[in-house]
Amino acid sequence: MGLLKTFFTNCAHPQGRMGRAMLKFMNWCHAPLTNWGLSLVEIQDGWTMLDIGCGGGATLQRLLKRSKNGTVYGIDISEESVAKARAVNADVLNKQVFIRQGSAEKLPYKNESFDLVTAVETVYFWPNLPNCLQEVRRVLKPGGHFVIMVEVADEDSKWTRLVDGMTAYPPEQLKAMLDDAGFIQTTFHRKKPSYATILGVNA
Ligand SMILES: C[S@@+](CC[C@H](N)C(=O)[O-])C[C@H]1O[C@@H](n2cnc3c(N)ncnc32)[C@H](O)[C@@H]1O
Repeated sequence: MGLLKTFFTNCAHPQGRMGRAMLKFMNWCHAPLTNWGLSLVEIQDGWTMLDIGCGGGATLQRLLKRSKNGTVYGIDISEESVAKARAVNADVLNKQVFIRQGSAEKLPYKNESFDLVTAVETVYFWPNLPNCLQEVRRVLKPGGHFVIMVEVADEDSKWTRLVDGMTAYPPEQLKAMLDDAGFIQTTFHRKKPSYATILGVNA
């Protein structure tokens, strides 16, 4: 149990050898959720997009693939995640993909920078989620889209016991939080096994 808990707690902030293994694993195992979640947004050519909590950088690739001449930014609190995401996107790094270390709490981007902001399997770890949602709104253009994807929605799930510092929000609650933050056209969608995507548009 100790080793398993240490491994999975690396989801929250990948570090060291176990963190690197976890990032590789997540790039692969989050593909079905991410591809489904992204299919719910009509991503346009030429968009400027941000993936918060970008982990090992696979979502950055997936975003770029869906937007001809698009530009993708990634940010993650973990140095290990940033290193992996940069390596995975090495061919387009600092041309079409820009990655830096930082937190959802204080995004180092100008107001109204992005057409789309994504957050895949990461809001569980953001401190003070309502404040982070205001940060997302600040960096989104008016009419810009925000997409949250989660696969842990049960408040009392085995995951929240296994991963220290994790809060699981039911999709209904995340939608209500987006409403409270001032997002419009908010919706949530579920898909088996336990996937949820929550969408909002910046007013
Ligand atoms: C479960 S992993 C998901 C990674 C990636 N999105 C994926 O789908 O594979 C969660 C990621 O969120 C990052 N993270 C946690 N708290 C964060 C915060 N406050 N701001 C930015 N990133 C954060 C972690 O470092 C980790 O890389």
